[in-house]
Amino acid sequence: MRESEKKQSRRDFLKVGAAAGLGAAVAGLNLGADEKRGSAGGAKSQFKVAPMPTVRVGFVGVGGMGSAHVQNYLNIEGVQVMAICDIIPEKVVRAQKWVVEAGQPEPVGYSRGPRDFERMCATEELDLVMTATPWEWHVPVCLSAMKNGKHAATEIPAAMSLDDCWALVEAAEKYGKHCQMMENCCYDRIELMTLNLVRKGVLGEVLHAEAGYLHDLRGVKFSSEGEGLWRRAWSQKLNGNLYPTHGLGPVAQCLNVNRGDAFDFLVSLSSPTRGLHEYAVETFGPDSPQAKEKYVLGDVNTSLIKTKRGKTIILIHDTNLPRPYTRINLVQGTRGIAMKWPDRIYIEGKAEKPHQWDDFEKFAAEFEHPLWKAIASKGEGRGHGGMDYIEDYRLIQSLRKGEPLDQDVYDAAAWSAIVGASCQSVAGKGKPVSIPDFTRGLWKTSPPLPIIEA
Ligand SMILES: NC(=O)c1ccc[n+]([C@@H]2O[C@H](COP(=O)([O-])OP(=O)(O)OC[C@H]3O[C@@H](n4cnc5c(N)ncnc54)[C@H](O)[C@@H]3O)[C@@H](O)[C@H]2O)c1
Repeated sequence: MRESEKKQSRRDFLKVGAAAGLGAAVAGLNLGADEKRGSAGGAKSQFKVAPMPTVRVGFVGVGGMGSAHVQNYLNIEGVQVMAICDIIPEKVVRAQKWVVEAGQPEPVGYSRGPRDFERMCATEELDLVMTATPWEWHVPVCLSAMKNGKHAATEIPAAMSLDDCWALVEAAEKYGKHCQMMENCCYDRIELMTLNLVRKGVLGEVLHAEAGYLHDLRGVKFSSEGEGLWRRAWSQKLNGNLYPTHGLGPVAQCLNVNRGDAFDFLVSLSSPTRGLHEYAVETFGPDSPQAKEKYVLGDVNTSLIKTKRGKTIILIHDTNLPRPYTRINLVQGTRGIAMKWPDRIYIEGKAEKPHQWDDFEKFAAEFEHPLWKAIASKGEGRGHGGMDYIEDYRLIQSLRKGEPLDQDVYDAAAWSAIVGASCQSVAGKGKPVSIPDFTRGLWKTSPPLPIIEA
């Protein structure tokens, strides 16, 4: 048994013990075991590195999202794209062409198979390695980058198991490197404005949030290209919340998770699985190979998260059924409530009529987030309404200025930990599952994420 597997089975044993009613002493032991992990470099609040005038970047995975990042980086000052890696050589050549067209030297291409990123990380002089690969590659790429002295950035979720969340934290601490998960939804307009309202106290003390990723992905999962090549396979492997961070990231920032509060535990339940099979039968026929696939992912997974300060979050994952898109983004405090899709808000004392929503726009003049005001126009026409550009800009700006990142490795781990924890809870009939404190207590003293200026 590998060392990491031993640690995992010890945590599982302790969780089973807690669920079996061995009580707080055992539950406490479980937390203690997690808190002893990652001692290599020690947890670091507000971790930052020396400023760097130019950020030399290598990309791994230049499909849909990776290409969007490359295009953004070619439009951000102080970035040099040095290397491109993808298992499909044509995608490497396409991205190399974009870089040359933007007036930079041709980046070195890597396409000698699924582990060629290791050669890239070992060979190239890079400051940052960014991966937008299928989920199973995020952790191997980030670990290879940090081991070779590079900062790492990964698409979402950063990791698909609790053990892998710890692996990222431990590597970042051991090698003294950043490891950011690129949660672009934290930079969407209403999410930023909501954070601004929270920071200014307009919603009062925030007590509860509701969020999720509710997106009909049936067509995407059965596509013969892009995510269709890998994403559906996860619906055959795991039953829980497989994509928690789009909804969770923005509300976790409002609740000061890892910066004044921390996730404590969750309970999670999944509905039956129907959507993918019915879609396959209707689209490809009842005798098609797709219709014979077996899925374990419940179509609607609902988790209820409790924080150490007693706050609550309802989090939903719903990607296999016909439905309009939403991430919900509900943030509720002692003075009011804000919500997205459609954008609406109610603030006691300021609402036009009691018990009735106001249009969010009513507050835009006063509470538009300064980052959105300053940067959004540069991201116009780019991915996801501009939020992707702001996230890329912020990472580069933080590295160039030598400032702490808006989202650090502890956020990557805590937000992604919902995947592993929800799957464990679902498998245990909704049993409470501890969400590790990856900061090992630093959340108590770390300052909240400020209102970031451009
Ligand atoms: N933040 C967002 O809004 C958002 C949107 C879409 C996708 N994503 C995330 O981005 C990531 C990629 O998704 P996508 O839609 O771009 O998928 P995609 O399939 O279009 O792109 C993945 C790319 O990775 C390449 N690849 C696969 N294995 C590789 C390996 N071992 N080494 C190098 N390259 C490899 C593929 O050839 C492909 O070009 C996923 O983590 C996904 O969750 C995020």
